[in-house]
Amino acid sequence: MRLLILGGTQFLGRAIATHACATGHDVTCAARGVTGAAADGARFIRVDRDDADGLAPLAREAFDAVVDVSRHPGQVRRAVKTLKPRVAHWTLVSTVSVYADNRTPGQRADTAPLRAPTAPEIERSTEETYGAAKVACEQAIGANAFICRAGLIAGPEDPTGRFTYWPVRLARGGEVLVPGTPDDAVQLIDVRDLARWIMLAAETRLTGTFDGIGPSFTRGQFLAQCAAAVGSSCTFTWADRAFLESHDIKRWSGPRSLPLWLPLPDFAGFSTRDTSPARAAGLTVRPLAETARDTLVWTRATVAAVTGLTADEERAALEAWHAR
Ligand SMILES: NC(=O)c1ccc[n+]([C@@H]2O[C@H](COP(=O)([O-])OP(=O)(O)OC[C@H]3O[C@@H](n4cnc5c(N)ncnc54)[C@H](OP(=O)(O)O)[C@@H]3O)[C@@H](O)[C@H]2O)c1
Repeated sequence: MRLLILGGTQFLGRAIATHACATGHDVTCAARGVTGAAADGARFIRVDRDDADGLAPLAREAFDAVVDVSRHPGQVRRAVKTLKPRVAHWTLVSTVSVYADNRTPGQRADTAPLRAPTAPEIERSTEETYGAAKVACEQAIGANAFICRAGLIAGPEDPTGRFTYWPVRLARGGEVLVPGTPDDAVQLIDVRDLARWIMLAAETRLTGTFDGIGPSFTRGQFLAQCAAAVGSSCTFTWADRAFLESHDIKRWSGPRSLPLWLPLPDFAGFSTRDTSPARAAGLTVRPLAETARDTLVWTRATVAAVTGLTADEERAALEAWHAR
C-alpha cells in the first residue's frame, strides 16, 4: 500500500510508520518537521496543517490509505476535504476522552454517550477541550472510516513519561508510594500493538468506531506485573485520595503526579472499557511485562521523558503518610 501518515514523526505516528515500513508498505509522513524525524525507510513531506492550503505539497500524490493523528478539528476538516475523496481507506486516531461518562464501568464504543463537540468555528483544541475537539474531528470524518479511540498509550518513545514512571520507579526498589487501592482499574495499550492494529485495519479496509486499548488490570496486578518484569523487590504503601489531594499530589500525569491515578468515584469507569469488539476486529496485545521491560530499556538507552513524583517528593510524602 501507499500509506500517508498525517503526523508520523512522534510516538504513535512513528510506531505506525515503523511497522508499516517493516511490513513492506510505501510510507510517507507529512508534518512540519518540528517534533521529530520520520521513521527509517519512510519518506518525509513538509506540510503545515495550520495553513489554509498547507496540504498543497500532497496535491499530486496518490495514496491507498491515510492515518491522521491530529487533535485539531480545523486540520482534520481540511484533510478530509482535500484528500479523503481520493483515498480508499481512512483512519482517524481518536481518544477515549471523547466519552461523556467516566463513572460507569464496562462501557463499549458503540453505545457509550459522547461529549458535545466543539463549536464548528473552533479550529484548534486545547488541554481543556481535547475530548470535545476529538468528537468534532470524528464528526468531520463521516461513517466510511476507521475511528480508533485510543486509551492510554504506553511503551518506548512515550513523550508523556506517565506510564514510564512506573517501570522506572519500580526498578529502583524500596518502599513505593502508590495511589488508591489494589482494586482500582488500570488500562492501557502498548504503542506497538496499537500501531500493528491500525495497519491491520488499513490492510483489511476495516471501518467503524472502536476503542483501541488492552485489557483492564487491577492496580495491584498492574504494579505486581511491572515490578516482576523489571526485576524489582519493593513494598507498596497505598495512599488514599484524601491524603494525596491534601499533599498536592496530582492525578494522572505531569510533574508532582502519581501517574495513571484517577480519583474514584469520578473515574470508576475510565479504565474498564469493554474491548471485546476490538479484539473481534483483530486487536492483539502483548503481555504488560514486555511493555514495562522494553520501556525501562528505552529509558536507559536514551534521554527519556519520565514524569511524576521526584524521589525527594515521594520520600517526603511517605514520611508524611507514616507520621499522620
Ligand atoms: N498518548 C496517549 O496516551 C494518547 C491517549 C489517547 C489518544 N491519543 C491519541 O493518539 C494520537 C497520538 O499521536 P502521536 O503519538 O503520533 O502524537 P501527536 O502529538 O498527536 O503527533 C502530532 C504529529 O502531528 C504533527 N503536527 C503537529 N502540528 C502540525 C501541523 N501544524 N502541521 C503538520 N503536522 C503537524 C507532529 O509533527 P511536527 O510537530 O513535526 O509537525 C507530529 O508528527 C493522537 O491522536 C492522540 O490524540 C493519545
